[in-house]
Amino acid sequence: MPLTANAALYTQRRADLATLLGRDGIAIIPTAPERQRNRDSDFLYRHDSYFYYLTGFTEPNACLIVTSDGHATLFCQPKDLEREIWDGIRLGPHAAPGALAVSAAYSIADLDQQAPRLLENKSTVWYPFATHKGLETRVDGWLSSVRARVRFGALCPESQRDLCALLDEMRLVKDTHEQDVMRRAAHISAGAHVRAMKRCANMLRAGQDVREYHLDAELLHEFRQHGSPYPAYGSIVAAGANACVLHYRADTAPIHDGELVLIDAGCELDGYASDITRTFPANGKFTGPQRDLYNLVLASQDAAIAATCPGKRFVDPHEATVAVLAQGLLDLGLLDKSKVGSAQDVIENRSYFQFYMHRTGHWLGMDVHDCGSYNEPSEIGNSTERRDPLSNELIQSRPSRILRPGMVLTIEPGLYVRPAEGVPAQFHNIGIRIEDDAIVTEEGCELITRGVPVKTDEIEALMRP
Ligand code: GLY
Ligand code: MN
Ligand code: MN
Repeated sequence: MPLTANAALYTQRRADLATLLGRDGIAIIPTAPERQRNRDSDFLYRHDSYFYYLTGFTEPNACLIVTSDGHATLFCQPKDLEREIWDGIRLGPHAAPGALAVSAAYSIADLDQQAPRLLENKSTVWYPFATHKGLETRVDGWLSSVRARVRFGALCPESQRDLCALLDEMRLVKDTHEQDVMRRAAHISAGAHVRAMKRCANMLRAGQDVREYHLDAELLHEFRQHGSPYPAYGSIVAAGANACVLHYRADTAPIHDGELVLIDAGCELDGYASDITRTFPANGKFTGPQRDLYNLVLASQDAAIAATCPGKRFVDPHEATVAVLAQGLLDLGLLDKSKVGSAQDVIENRSYFQFYMHRTGHWLGMDVHDCGSYNEPSEIGNSTERRDPLSNELIQSRPSRILRPGMVLTIEPGLYVRPAEGVPAQFHNIGIRIEDDAIVTEEGCELITRGVPVKTDEIEALMRP
């Protein structure tokens, strides 16, 4: 079988990992299990991200073992005509080395027999901790088998280490191939948001009963139409007050003329996520209070974008957002200066938390909340302690991660106004979030999701008949 596309890329990643395993190290990386939904029916299969990162292989029931000498052994489903009639073609161990450029391949049924042999004479065994149910016990069993051979001269690994620590760092900085896939995923998702916005206004103009699921259907249509297998996470389509529920899902609620709609949705493409939120007026025209609040969130996003560049820290976009929101909440009368003080007081006491209770971003990659430490590894020892002003809990702060070219993160400020005493009625039940995906570049950042507009006049223009 000829090499699959990008086999060289995965070979290089395995080689890079091998050099990190230390002398006589060995790494074990299983893919994700299949999961039953109910009788005879499984959830749609999604491979494990670490495993995919090192193989590009998407079949279930597989495991990769990499050793520090650069050897990569794949265990995968054996060819089985009857199973292939039901479930589809399997690559099989015979064809795997030719297709995936691994050094050797065996049936997954041989893993328990082969793993002790591979672990013999190794010093450290690496595997992802607390990620695969039962893996630790299985590794224990393999190590016991090796130990049984110690009297015949075999050496048994003496330490076990968390492989996530190595792979998370590798995955945090995206190479050009990954960036390209992410740009394509973002482009498809932006088109899906545009499609949903237009459909919403068109249905309302036609006097139809618009439901959240109608817009969810538009998103899915666009994802699948462009080859995405599924959304990267459960799509949120929230009409009116539902936007104030942070983990709302696209449900059955009617979308009314005069309300805002918040959509947080992105497709997965070739194993990579996109993550976009837009908030728009259902009928295509913002009201005054909606526009005021929207423009405040947008201004806070602009500040966050300006703070997303190499040398800045992960926390800087969040702090830039909060500074703009704190002042804006005072200016719009959502916070009462006579009660909460200045914008600086609002920030220090976290009084904005009533309306803005999440962080401004997260790493994005194969996982929508992607792996990678949010602390700067070179400064990990410099921790300080402080009390949270709201909960009084003791918090350990470590220096935030310094942004580097190739890191990808979301920038997603929002405001969520639940009715409460002292909150002006015209803002009640408005929930707004604006979320874009940014690749950190040499100069600043590249927003890869602006195929769907964010400015109020551009959104209104888009939604006109
Ligand atoms: N859609 C998940 C998030 O925005 O974090
Ligand atoms: Mn997000
Ligand atoms: Mn999102």
